[in-house]
Amino acid sequence: MGYREIYDSWKNDPEAFWLEASKAIDWDVAPTRALDDTNAPLYEWFTDSKVNACYNAVDRHVEAGKGDQVAIIYDSPITGRKDKISFAELKDKVANLAGALLSKGITKGDRVIVYMPMVPEALVAMLACARIGAVHSVVFGGFASNELAVRIDDAQPKAILAASCGLEPNRVVEYKPLIDGAIELSQHKPETVIVLQREECQAPLIEGRDYDWHAVQDGVTPADCVPVEGNHPAYILYTSGTTGAPKGVVRPTAGHLVALNWTMKNVYNVDPGDVFWAASDVGWVVGHSYITYGPLVHGNTTIVFEGKPVGTPDAGTFWRVISEHNVRSFFTAPTAFRAIKRVDPKGEFKAKYDLSCLRALYLAGERADPDTIHWAQDLLGVPVVDHWWQTETGYAVAANPLGIEELPIKVGSPSVAMPGYDIQVLDEAGNQMPAGELGAIAIKLPLPPGTLPTLWNAEERYKKSYLTTFPGYYETGDAGMIDEDGYVYIMARTDDVINVAGHRLSTGGMEEVLANHPDVAECAVIGVTDQLKGQLPVGFLCLTDGVDRAHEDVVAECVKLVRDQIGPVAAFKLAIVVDRLPKTRSGKILRATMVKIADSEEFKMPATIDDPAILDEIKLALQSIGYAQ
Ligand code: COA
Ligand code: AMP
Repeated sequence: MGYREIYDSWKNDPEAFWLEASKAIDWDVAPTRALDDTNAPLYEWFTDSKVNACYNAVDRHVEAGKGDQVAIIYDSPITGRKDKISFAELKDKVANLAGALLSKGITKGDRVIVYMPMVPEALVAMLACARIGAVHSVVFGGFASNELAVRIDDAQPKAILAASCGLEPNRVVEYKPLIDGAIELSQHKPETVIVLQREECQAPLIEGRDYDWHAVQDGVTPADCVPVEGNHPAYILYTSGTTGAPKGVVRPTAGHLVALNWTMKNVYNVDPGDVFWAASDVGWVVGHSYITYGPLVHGNTTIVFEGKPVGTPDAGTFWRVISEHNVRSFFTAPTAFRAIKRVDPKGEFKAKYDLSCLRALYLAGERADPDTIHWAQDLLGVPVVDHWWQTETGYAVAANPLGIEELPIKVGSPSVAMPGYDIQVLDEAGNQMPAGELGAIAIKLPLPPGTLPTLWNAEERYKKSYLTTFPGYYETGDAGMIDEDGYVYIMARTDDVINVAGHRLSTGGMEEVLANHPDVAECAVIGVTDQLKGQLPVGFLCLTDGVDRAHEDVVAECVKLVRDQIGPVAAFKLAIVVDRLPKTRSGKILRATMVKIADSEEFKMPATIDDPAILDEIKLALQSIGYAQ
C-alpha cells in the first residue's frame, strides 16, 4: 500500500489502524480497544492494557535470541572512548540499576530526575525507571540550577540520577554543584542522588543522600519488569512555553510504544538489526523518542554520540560515525548541517569516508532552510527528509514516509500529514483556510497514541494552552499553510517560543530573568534570524530612572544573569539598552515588528502603535550590534 491508502485507512477507521499497529508490541494484557474518549476533550489510548516499556525495549529482544546484537554504540569523540553494549548486557545493567532504585524505596509512579550527558548510562537510567514503572524526567545538561530546581519542584522526584560532569569542547561542566544548588533552591528535597563518577571529574558525595552509581548496585537483586496500565506516564519532559514556567509534557506508556515502533519502519525505513542514529541529546524529545525508545523497542542499534558536528575533532565527525558504524538512517537538526557547511563548504571531509551504508537523512527541530537541504542532498546523494513535530507529539506529525513510499520532496516543506494526524490551517475565528493561505496550524482531536494527554499536574494549563483557542482542535503554536497537494509548510511560531540551534526556548522566560535585574525597569527579548543557529535571542533593556551606569556593565550582568539562571543553552549574549520600547496604545510590546526590523524585512506599521518614532530608535540600537542593516 502507498502513503495515500495507508493514510486513508487510518482516517476511515483509526481504532482498527492503531489496534493493528499495537500487535508489534509485547503486552502483559493486550488492549481490547484503542481510544478512550470517556473524558473528551481529554483522550487516552490503550487504557485497558498492561505493558512494560523496558521489557519491549530490552528483554524481549534477549528472549527472542538477539541478546548478542549490539543495542547501544557509544562513540565519544570528545573523550576518545568507544563502547558497544549488547541487548543482553543492557538487560543486566538496567535490571541492576532498577534493583538499586527499588532498594532506595523508589517504586511505580515515583518520579526520578535524570541529569546526565550523552553516555550510555543515561539510557540505562531511563530504562531502569521504565522497568519498575517509575516516571523519569530527563533535564538537559545545558540548563542551570534554577531550571533544574523548577523541575524538581514540579515533578517532586524521590531521586536524581546524575553524572559527575558533562563535557563541552571548551570545558568540563560539573553537574554536582548544579544539582546541589538546585536542591538548595527547591522546596521539594529528593531523598536520593545517584552519581556516575566520570574520569574527568570526581564529584564529592553528601553522606546519607548521595551514592556512587556502581557502589549502590552492589549486592542488589536485579529488578523484574513491572507491568503498568497503558496510560501510565512513561515520562515527563519539560519544554518551553510562553512563560518561565516550563510545561511538563506527559508521555503515556502504551501509545508511545505503539506509535514509535510504527514510525521506525514507516517513517525512518529501518528494519530490526539496522543501525539508526539520532545525533541529538537525551535531554530533548528527539533523544527520548529516537535515541532511546524508538530504536530499542524496534530492535535497532542506537548510537550515543558525545560530540559536536564540528570541532570534535573536525567537520568530518558525522561522516566517520556513519561509515564506521554502518548507519542506515541518520537524524539531526538543520543547525548541525549549517555548522558543518560553514567550516567545510565543499564537503571535503566526506571524501575520506565510505557512506554507501546511508540511505536517508532526516532533519527536524527547526525550519530546514532550502540552502541547507540542497547542500545536504548534493553532498550525501540520499533523500533529505524534513519532518515536523514537537515535544508534545513525541513523533512526526508531518513527514515523507520513506518506509511506505518516497513522496516527491518539496524543499521548504516537511511533506505530508502522518496517519493519526488531521492537520488543518485555521484563521483566527477557527475557520479552515483555503490551500496555500497562511494561518494557525491545528490538529483535529483526538491526537493519536503517544501524544501528550495532559501536562503534569496542570490539566487546566493543558486545556488553556492547547485546546481552548480552537475548540475540537489541538493548537500547535506553529503558523503556516498547506498546499493543494497536502504538503505542510511551517513558517513561524504564534507564541513567544524561539528556536536556537534546534533548542526550544522561551523569550518570555528570559524576560522574567532580565526583569529581576535591579537596574532594569522594563525589557523585551526577541528572536532574530541567525545564519548558524536559526534564531538568536536579543534583549532590549530600559533602565530604571536615575540609573547612571555604563550600559555595557548592565548588559554584561544581564547576559550573566540569563546564563546563570536559565543556562548556557539559552545562548543569550546580545542585549542593548534603549530608552523606550515600541508598544500599542494598550501597552502591548510590538515584538513581531521588532523582529522584522532586526531581520531587515519589510513591515506594515501597526495601526495601533503608540509612537512610531520609537521604531527608529530600535533600528539604530539594532544597527549598533550588527542587525537591521
Ligand atoms: N551541557 C552544558 N552546556 C551545553 C550543553 C550541555 N549539554 N549543550 C550546549 N551547551 C552550551 C555550549 O557549550 C555553549 O556554551 P558557550 O556559550 O560557553 O559556548 C552554549 O550552551 C550554547 O550551545 P549551542 O547553542 O549548542 O552552541 P554551540 O556553539 O556549542 O554549538 C552547534 C553549535 C550548531 C554545533 C550545536 O548547537 C549543535 O550541534 N546543534 C545540534 C542541534 C541539536 O542536537 N538539537 C537537538 C534537537 S534535534
Ligand atoms: P521541540 O518541542 O523542541 O521539538 O520544538 C518544536 C517546535 O520546533 C515546533 O513547534 C516548530 O516550531 C519547530 N520545528 C520542529 N520541526 C520543524 C520543522 N521540520 N520545520 C519547521 N519547524 C520545526
